[in-house]
Amino acid sequence: MNLILLGAPGAGKGTQAMKIAERYGLVHISTGDIFRENIRNGTPIGNLAKSYLDKGELVPDEVTCEIVKDRLARPDVRNGYLLDGFPRNLYQAAALDTFAKIDGVININIDQSLLLERICGRRTCKQCGEIYHVSMLNGAENCPRCGGELFQRKDDNPETVASRLNVYNEQTAPLIDYYTKKGLILNFTGTEAPAEVLFEEIRSALDGLGKRP
Ligand code: AP5
Ligand code: MG
Repeated sequence: MNLILLGAPGAGKGTQAMKIAERYGLVHISTGDIFRENIRNGTPIGNLAKSYLDKGELVPDEVTCEIVKDRLARPDVRNGYLLDGFPRNLYQAAALDTFAKIDGVININIDQSLLLERICGRRTCKQCGEIYHVSMLNGAENCPRCGGELFQRKDDNPETVASRLNVYNEQTAPLIDYYTKKGLILNFTGTEAPAEVLFEEIRSALDGLGKRP
């Protein structure tokens, strides 16, 4: 099963991606995580991507599409993958159509007034990648799951979030229509439901998708 996760910044894509990938044995491919890793390692891709991430803008399409195409050519994706944060505009979606066959697109809709608080309170584990909100941590400074160090993303500040949200509304939201027309969209509301409840809703829809003839 090859899936895409769509949603505004902070909608809960990464949180759901970890659960979905584990449940279905899919490879989780987050373009944001790939860029952040390259930035940490000081690679040429990281050096190019840094200014875009810092401003909340999209890294140029040619670079991003090439990275995903290469990643999907690796043998570990044979049993399925979950794209988190790609595609992000119509150009990337059309490019993806030339090198991938997608079975479903999970779209997490969310009330955008909630996003700033969610994003600015996010903490991520350096070691296992688990995503938290400070409200869940009861003051803990290390990952409750593995003890790893928690960090706050550099682009999780009000100015960059505003820019990321504009980019989402202008460039990414049209993909909902694009994939609805292809009959691939699965819609969910990420506003009220806690992450575990939302995951159960997604799981139930994906189990149905797996049973389609
Ligand atoms: P990326 O890393 O993809 O960031 P994003 O799209 O802005 O999304 P986030 O990771 O911020 O949010 P999320 O939806 O994963 O939410 P999460 O689960 O963490 O991209 C970053 C940058 O990389 C881009 O700006 C761009 O520069 C570049 N880039 C990436 N892909 C690109 C591409 N294809 N093309 C070009 N450039 C690209 O949750 C957020 C918070 O909410 C957490 O605190 C979490 O605990 C909490 N939470 C989650 N679910 C719930 C829930 N159900 N209830 C309550 N709280 C919840
Ligand atoms: Mg994410």
